[in-house]
Amino acid sequence: MSQRAPQVSQFGSVDPAPPSKLGNIEAWKHSLVDEEIPLFQRMRNVFALRNEGSDDSCLALCFGFESKSALLRHELAYVLGQMQNKVALPSLIERLDDVNEHVMVRHEAAEAMGAIGDISVKAMLQKHLTDDNPEVSESCEVALDLLAWCNTDEWNETKW
Ligand SMILES: [Fe+2]
Repeated sequence: MSQRAPQVSQFGSVDPAPPSKLGNIEAWKHSLVDEEIPLFQRMRNVFALRNEGSDDSCLALCFGFESKSALLRHELAYVLGQMQNKVALPSLIERLDDVNEHVMVRHEAAEAMGAIGDISVKAMLQKHLTDDNPEVSESCEVALDLLAWCNTDEWNETKW
C-alpha cells in the first residue's frame, strides 16, 4: 500500500477524502456551499468538521445542506449519522421529508436518523414507510428497526 493510502478514520470508516488539516469550523462551513471549490476539497472539509465532533461543527455540516451538490448533501447525511448528535435531527428530518430532495440524500437522512437512535423521530420515519421510492421506504424500515433495537423499553410494540 502506498504511503498515501486512505486511513481508517476515528469512526472506523475509510473516507472518500482525507480530513483537511488547515482551517476552522467557520471556513469549512462556508466552503460547503461554495460551488467553485472542488468537491474533493469540500469533502475533506466535511470530514474535518465530523472529526471536530462538537455541536458547532455538527450545525456547520447541517448548513451544508444548502449546497447544490446532491452527492455532497448525501455525504453530509452520512457523517451526521456517524456523529450521532441530536442537534442534527431537525435538518435530517427536513431532508427526509422534502419530496423534491434527491432520493440518495433522503435515503441517507433516514439512515442517519436511525443511527442517532433518538425515539423522537419514530413518527417521521413511519410517515415515509409508504414513500414511492423504495430507497426511502426501505431506509425508513431499517432505521425504525434500529431505533426499536436501541430503545426496547420505550418501544410500544414488542418486536424483539
Ligand atoms: Fe447511502
